[in-house]
Amino acid sequence: MPDRRAIIIDTDPGQDDALAILLALASDEFDVLGITAVAGNVPLTLTEKNVRKICELADRPQTKVFAGSSRPLMRDLVTAEYVHGKTGLDGPDLPEPVMPLQTQHGVDFIIETLRERASGEVTLCTLGPLTNIALALIRAPDIAPKIREIVMMGGGFFEGGNVTPTAEFNIYVDPHAAATVFRSGVPIVMIPLDCTHKALTTRDRIAAMRMHGTKVTEAAAELIDFFERFDEDKYGTDGGPLHDPCVIAWLLKPEIFSGRDCNVEIETGSELTMGMTVVDWWGVTDRPKNAHVIRDIDADGFFKLLTERIARL
Ligand code: RIB
Ligand code: CA
Repeated sequence: MPDRRAIIIDTDPGQDDALAILLALASDEFDVLGITAVAGNVPLTLTEKNVRKICELADRPQTKVFAGSSRPLMRDLVTAEYVHGKTGLDGPDLPEPVMPLQTQHGVDFIIETLRERASGEVTLCTLGPLTNIALALIRAPDIAPKIREIVMMGGGFFEGGNVTPTAEFNIYVDPHAAATVFRSGVPIVMIPLDCTHKALTTRDRIAAMRMHGTKVTEAAAELIDFFERFDEDKYGTDGGPLHDPCVIAWLLKPEIFSGRDCNVEIETGSELTMGMTVVDWWGVTDRPKNAHVIRDIDADGFFKLLTERIARL
């Protein structure tokens, strides 16, 4: 077995975050150094609890879970209970967690881990607003060159936005944090709505997941059943987009994705387009190509990977 890839997952569960965390915990390719919760889909008091519920569902109670930022850098917190339910993890009835929450702040954990580990060893996988990552970079600029890369779910370009006509939720909640991260010089893989909207939880794909009949695959199907209903109504599709597991799947099988290096800037001035990711896909500016932007995915290959892996738990 080659060396496992050291990752920190930063997340705001969220049903799709839950599937991403399950995929990571089920995959021996990873050494999950820790999972840091951030306010986003629901407040931090719920996202940190939801991370622990998911780790216990995966029977990984030894996972180190940290609470990070409870609000964006500058703006008031905007949440999404209308999508995820009041707990943020509506669907299955998951028990209250017993495993501990680490006492260290999530941002301190990110800084300390990057300072302790060899340069280029740690990958940050972000599934929510980028508040924790931005705070770590602001407080400890020395960690930027040590980060192997940031693989993030967020943004949109030809697909537009999902919380406003121009902004995707993770970026919209904390656009100033996103601007800090995209200007940091850290290598970024950006997985936007243009990609995740092609990863639809169709009836056939969820039935194939349920066929495994394990506690985890059943809970995963129930999470998706709840999560997808909002987007099915909104987009009129068979199934909804499964955003966050694309981040982990990219690390496992990058060959099922495609994209190109682009300049990405974040709108932080205009309320009309606040949080828009301005992606120079056609290279019409001479602005630096600061992100590898993913546009396409082999959705069947993605769901095959996701299902096969979580069925191991
Ligand atoms: O826009 C989709 C993103 O916002 C996903 O990460 C989802 O969990 C929410 O955080
Ligand atoms: Ca998320």
